[in-house]
Amino acid sequence: MNITMLNDTYQRNITYMRISITDRCNLRCHYCMPEDFTDWKPKEEILRYEEILRIVKVAANRGLKKVRVTGGEPLVRRGVVDFVRTLHAVPGIETVALTTNGVFLKETAQSLFDAGLRHINISLDSLHPETFAQIVKRDIFDRVWEGIEECERIGFDPIKINCVLQAGVNDHEVNDFARLTLQKPYHVRFIEFMPCANWERWIETYRPFQVSFDRIEAEMGTLSPIGQPNEGTAGPAENFRLPGGKGVVGFIHAVSHDFCGTCNRIRLTADGQIRPCLYSYAGVDFKSAMRSGCTDTELSALLDQVMEVKPKYHELDVRPKDKQLLTMVNIGG
Ligand code: GTP
Ligand code: 5AD
Ligand code: SF4
Repeated sequence: MNITMLNDTYQRNITYMRISITDRCNLRCHYCMPEDFTDWKPKEEILRYEEILRIVKVAANRGLKKVRVTGGEPLVRRGVVDFVRTLHAVPGIETVALTTNGVFLKETAQSLFDAGLRHINISLDSLHPETFAQIVKRDIFDRVWEGIEECERIGFDPIKINCVLQAGVNDHEVNDFARLTLQKPYHVRFIEFMPCANWERWIETYRPFQVSFDRIEAEMGTLSPIGQPNEGTAGPAENFRLPGGKGVVGFIHAVSHDFCGTCNRIRLTADGQIRPCLYSYAGVDFKSAMRSGCTDTELSALLDQVMEVKPKYHELDVRPKDKQLLTMVNIGG
């Protein structure tokens, strides 16, 4: 059968969908949502798993190959393990991945693995329990760390650790994190703090990735490049290895250099919009279409609409600074 791939107007082929299954989260990371955030979606606005699967099947018929389950925090939603199992069974989907804050991993990792999951990304912004607690607003470091170790014991591969660096908060830990990759097979990825609703804090603590890159090379040796960001269905990290390293050191430099030219992804929000870009306000409403009885052909046509509105790049440089920026918890990063 001849399929029409998902190509946008800048000749980018979309093969990767990030799926937010809930906007709820059990942590309160300040870079992800404002402290007084209350804009939670009512339950009936959240897509049911069958609705998400329907979209995934239609997109897989158009060449979608990879899905990543995100939130909020995906492990707070009931039924997530069965959902992950069903995703693996969708014809055409080659990779199912999940991004979590790790709090419920220790008890859920084995069932996720049994449901077919192998690719797991875990947020960990500090190796010090007190600093970690300051960032996420919960005293929960040990549980997250035990969850990571449990994933390693079970055999997840790759295990990716996401660390959003902030000057004066956790950036002094950059070499401790990099050192982890000498002993462990983890991918430790340093993520540039992306501006979201919390603009003042971003101005104070954002630093371009080059600062940490140089700090690592000065103390630990040359970082040798491996692979390219967005290669195939890969994400945006630029990856390196330290001399003798078992794991990988990655940088996600969304702010200082964008990687939008090779963007391969779209985002399904928990309330059923597909966002063509992390920073795009232009969502296409799949939920309303499905709930008013549309056909799969009509859903497929909505995917074409997403391709039409996908912007060339995130436009962070021209965004008016006073405009309400997005809240990551609603989008799943
Ligand atoms: P994999 O390569 O599949 O592991 O994916 P990933 O690194 O994209 O996934 P993860 O959920 O771990 O995201 C890590 C960070 O990258 C988060 O801060 C995301 O917001 C950011 N990120 C992921 N995709 C994009 C993107 O398309 N644009 C921007 N600007 N940031 C992204
Ligand atoms: N900047 C960079 N990364 C962010 N994340 C959440 N908010 C931001 C932000 N403002 C990251 C989390 C998680 C991933 C899904 O997104 O740390 O690892
Ligand atoms: Fe793609 Fe937007 Fe991310 Fe750029 S910021 S890589 S266009 S989703």
